[in-house]
Amino acid sequence: MSTTLIRNGRVITATDDYMADVLMQDGVIHAIGKNMAVGEGVRIIDASGLYVLPGGVDTHVHLQNIIGPTVTCDTFASGTRAAAFGGTTTVVDFALQTAEDSPLEAIARAQRLADPQVNIDYSLHVIVTRVDAQVLADVRHAMRHEGVTSFKMFMAYPGVMMADDAAIFQMLRQVGADGGMVALHAENGTVIDLLIREALEAGHASPRYHALTRPAILEGEATHRGIRLAELAEAQIYFVHVSSNQALKHIVTARAEGIPVFAETCPHYLLFDDSVYNSDEFEIAKYVMTPPLRTPDDQKHLWRALRYDDLQVIATDHCPFCMKEGHLGYQRQKMSGLHDFSKIPNGAPGIETRLVSLFDIGEMQGKLSLNRFVQLTSTTPAKLFGLFPKKGTIAVGSDADVVLFDPAATQVIHAAHLHSQCDYTLLEGRTLRGQVKKVFLRGELIVDGEQWLGREGMGRFVPRGTVQAF
Ligand code: URP
Ligand code: ZN
Ligand code: ZN
Repeated sequence: MSTTLIRNGRVITATDDYMADVLMQDGVIHAIGKNMAVGEGVRIIDASGLYVLPGGVDTHVHLQNIIGPTVTCDTFASGTRAAAFGGTTTVVDFALQTAEDSPLEAIARAQRLADPQVNIDYSLHVIVTRVDAQVLADVRHAMRHEGVTSFKMFMAYPGVMMADDAAIFQMLRQVGADGGMVALHAENGTVIDLLIREALEAGHASPRYHALTRPAILEGEATHRGIRLAELAEAQIYFVHVSSNQALKHIVTARAEGIPVFAETCPHYLLFDDSVYNSDEFEIAKYVMTPPLRTPDDQKHLWRALRYDDLQVIATDHCPFCMKEGHLGYQRQKMSGLHDFSKIPNGAPGIETRLVSLFDIGEMQGKLSLNRFVQLTSTTPAKLFGLFPKKGTIAVGSDADVVLFDPAATQVIHAAHLHSQCDYTLLEGRTLRGQVKKVFLRGELIVDGEQWLGREGMGRFVPRGTVQAF
């Protein structure tokens, strides 16, 4: 395995910011120092003017996920390559427990699919849709023996993925006691389904009704319910894709009460607001994700929460579906909902643009410090999901997952230049400050400017530990 010295870079972690050389050997960070002398055969990379960041950790992605009648349009191969180009070196995807199988079979199935394809390291959250004694035993087994320590449950999508409150409570009680994390999708699914039915009966079929039938108050209600269930279960809990102050206010209160509540938001909630839905053009189907985009006031609260640690993670919820039916052979994508918004598959792409978009709006506009930017996109997700310090930092002994980032470069984002198989990006035509220049996965250079040097299957499944938040 090659030895590489990164010279003269500005090393930025969640807590530190200093000029140093970083020596990567045998897949890990071997030494960090000043003016390091190295022997022959060591590759030297000059990082003058560049930030040396820990590889991004994206704990919410949907690659090759079957969602309803269709599948997300990035495979494990294309999605992890796109992630790498964007400076992310670890993703946590989902293994869906179906009506027929157990969490353990779901993990094995997802691994069979992912292992030969992944270009970066990965792990899995199990989506638990049904709970009984055997499922609880399997969940315990997954935590102890498979390195899968987090479980997603849905309070939305009745009849598809929704779990009832008792099931969520049982999972919180056991997983919490074992030191793992239940991640909740908090929306009141049955009331939303009623609102959708009523809208369609009234002849409201255009995509804007996606947002109108998923009001923030129903995200707030479910978030509050989830918190109370976690409180009763004496368990830590994590809320995915928090979009509104209706949800946030319960999270803030609960944290002040000492309840171990953690939460993420996603770049799209910070970059766009609900004004995009003021149109009857089908084009706005590209903004049909769940929860929908919220108001500028919600956005203000999300930024405040990011600053004051009421939100601890920014993950993408990369859930790509093509706008053009049949693009690369993908069927039943966004166009399925041309005459019925409820049939538009929910989700948007974002896996490659997370770091650069947050650097542009967060760091450059003074909303986030550089340390906080790293903490939100790498360190804290690694800690909350049991990956730290292997992942999420630059320290001696950590995996040599390193990003060289140019803060002075600018780029114009176009879907055609990105590496996702999705045929659009929400950031089309946007000029962003900052650019990923080189990416190392366990010391191997996999992205060098526009050049791809990685290999499908070089990524590894990473067994995770328990929550490291306390
Ligand atoms: O719209 C979204 N977020 N789709 C993915 C599924 C989910 O709820 O995370
Ligand atoms: Zn969700
Ligand atoms: Zn999701």
